[in-house]
Amino acid sequence: MVSFTALVAAAAAGATVVASPLQAVQAVQAGIQPGTGKHDGFFYSFWTDGKGSIDYTNGPGGNYKSKWNNVNNWVGGKGWNPGPPKKISYNGTWDNYKVNSYLSLYGWTTNPLVEYYIVEAYGTYNPSSGTSKKGTVESDGGTYDIYQTTRVNQPSILGTSTFAQFWSVRTQKRVGGNITTQNHFDAWKKYGLKLGTWDYMILATEGYQSSGSSDITINEIK
Ligand SMILES: *[C@@H]1O[C@H](CO)[C@@H](O)[C@H](O)[C@H]1NC(C)=O
Ligand SMILES: *[C@@H]1O[C@H](CO)[C@@H](O)[C@H](O)[C@H]1NC(C)=O
Repeated sequence: MVSFTALVAAAAAGATVVASPLQAVQAVQAGIQPGTGKHDGFFYSFWTDGKGSIDYTNGPGGNYKSKWNNVNNWVGGKGWNPGPPKKISYNGTWDNYKVNSYLSLYGWTTNPLVEYYIVEAYGTYNPSSGTSKKGTVESDGGTYDIYQTTRVNQPSILGTSTFAQFWSVRTQKRVGGNITTQNHFDAWKKYGLKLGTWDYMILATEGYQSSGSSDITINEIK
């Protein structure tokens, strides 16, 4: 979703003296390059709109680490592709309560194209601000509020598109625990929020116009 030229432009805008486009990209990305792939038994996705710097690193198994500085928007993490209903556990460090960031189980479906979030913790911006609650779901020892929003001509797994976002936002923020995704998918369906064909699902760290860090490990509970 991010273009090479955007990365080069972002690097060139920084203080680093750049000698070549390749070095420019490296100045932006100290960790791996943005993209998707497989790492140590897990799928990962690392996306940025190109502004600021993000050091995203895949650790062993379901672990990933991130450190970002002055980004506009980035999202990354590890999970599965495709990502049908699963019970997952995760733990680690995400201490971004004072900046704009989310820690969520995050995924996509196609037909219809939907971007979904089960938000475990968020920082200064509640993603449900300015939209009305559809209902609630009890899951994994907590209450989640359910919302739907629409994105118009925004980046997606299918390029720039208009699509729905479904949200479950945990009312008591936490970092670590289990997420029984089926509970959320069932509740969304009950409130008329229809998912499509499973694409990827990751336990994502997202940063929006902020700087922060995370160190997260996920696992599937079978
Ligand atoms: C996190 O979970 C993994 C297993 O998924 C476990 O090995 C590790 O000890 C846990 N770490 C913490 C800090 O709880
Ligand atoms: C997560 O689920 C596992 C398996 O069902 C259970 O043993 C564990 O206690 C749960 N952890 C939490 C934090 O609820």
